Amino acid sequence: MRELSLHLLDIAENSVNAKAKNVTIFVLEDTRSDRLYLSIEDDGVGMSPEMVAQVTDPFVTTRTTRKVGLGLPLLKGAAEACNGYLKVQSTLGVGTRVEIEFQRSHIDRMPLGDLPATILSLTIGFPAIHWVIRYQVNDNEFVFDSEPIQRELEGIPLSDPAVLAFLKEYVETGVSELKPADSF
Ligand SMILES: Nc1ncnc2c1ncn2[C@@H]1O[C@H](COP(=O)(O)OP(=O)(O)O)[C@@H](O)[C@H]1O
Ligand SMILES: [Mg+2]
Repeated sequence: MRELSLHLLDIAENSVNAKAKNVTIFVLEDTRSDRLYLSIEDDGVGMSPEMVAQVTDPFVTTRTTRKVGLGLPLLKGAAEACNGYLKVQSTLGVGTRVEIEFQRSHIDRMPLGDLPATILSLTIGFPAIHWVIRYQVNDNEFVFDSEPIQRELEGIPLSDPAVLAFLKEYVETGVSELKPADSF
């Protein structure tokens, strides 16, 4: 995968599969320290230390047939190649946090891609989950919180065409207003 937004989608889907009720995604572009930082935190079933070691290592697996489960190791490699890292912290029965950081200006750094599309896919695709998605650029922040939106909708589904149009506009505007001129 060539875009961080697609990796975010993938990692957040792991949280969904882990039966998380609350998922918080944080994307930070810090132009001053030249870092691009992402974190995905969930309150799902969590992983044992052995499992944590496995998910970031492409050569250790309990599975005989893997589909695209190489996502995390590949992303880890991509981050490390850009003076960054990928860390997974997890506690069984508590939840999981995945953190990824890149040198923002690194020539090989993956582009962020379509963050609004990822936000919309997750919230509309998994409406039973409470999503908090924060996009921060230096000191400014756009926060998408699915809970007050759902409450306001009083039962109207997020997939309703009018709601969808509103959400798309809301998220795209929120993200594009913050995006630095040199963002990629
Ligand atoms: N957030 C998470 N919470 C709990 N378990 C996780 C989480 N992320 C990954 N895992 C565990 O790691 C395994 C491997 O994840 P992944 O490489 O994305 O492959 P896949 O999602 O196809 O199973 C998952 O099957 C799951 O058991
Ligand atoms: Mg997965």
